[in-house]
Amino acid sequence: MIGWLGDAYPWVKAAHLIFVIFWMAGLFMLPRYLVYHQEALGNSAEEGRWVEREGKLRHIILTPAMIAVWVLGFSLALNDGIANGVPGLGWLHLKIALVVLLSGYHGWAVGYARKLATGHATVSGKTLRLLNEVPGVATVVIVILAIVKPF
Ligand code: HEM
Repeated sequence: MIGWLGDAYPWVKAAHLIFVIFWMAGLFMLPRYLVYHQEALGNSAEEGRWVEREGKLRHIILTPAMIAVWVLGFSLALNDGIANGVPGLGWLHLKIALVVLLSGYHGWAVGYARKLATGHATVSGKTLRLLNEVPGVATVVIVILAIVKPF
């Protein structure tokens, strides 16, 4: 599979980065929405608006962008020879592990939005604000791994 993308390689890489930006934009927004949604519990009109906003963000941006990032990222990984034991891809293995964790965070945030929609808050506002920082920290590490390729 090494080099299987041929002349399409730069286009696939561009598409990968475009969907990375969409996914990360959604992942920066949803946890912020969760803070506002949690603060609105008890005010049913406002709660309803947050449920609607979270649903739209999920269906229009978050889910499609995450799927596109995975499909395009794996196409690039195969092009780089991850399935052929090509050496020097330690950065890519770590990057994929971090993206798995980031996808888990995505799943947690969607699950918490569903919980808030039933009127239940199980995480304190302070913890929720701290959890807001996860996508930012993950972006710093993942982008350094992808660009610097330190190992
Ligand atoms: C499962 C998910 C992902 C996989 C398998 C993956 C894999 C890859 C691969 C193989 C490349 C091409 C490297 C090269 O050929 O030089 C690449 C490029 C890149 N990826 Fe990902 N990626 C994923 C998700 C992400 C995420 C979530 C981010 C950012 C938060 C990201 C940021 C980048 C950047 C900045 C580049 C460009 C590096 C360059 O200029 O060569 N990727 N990715």
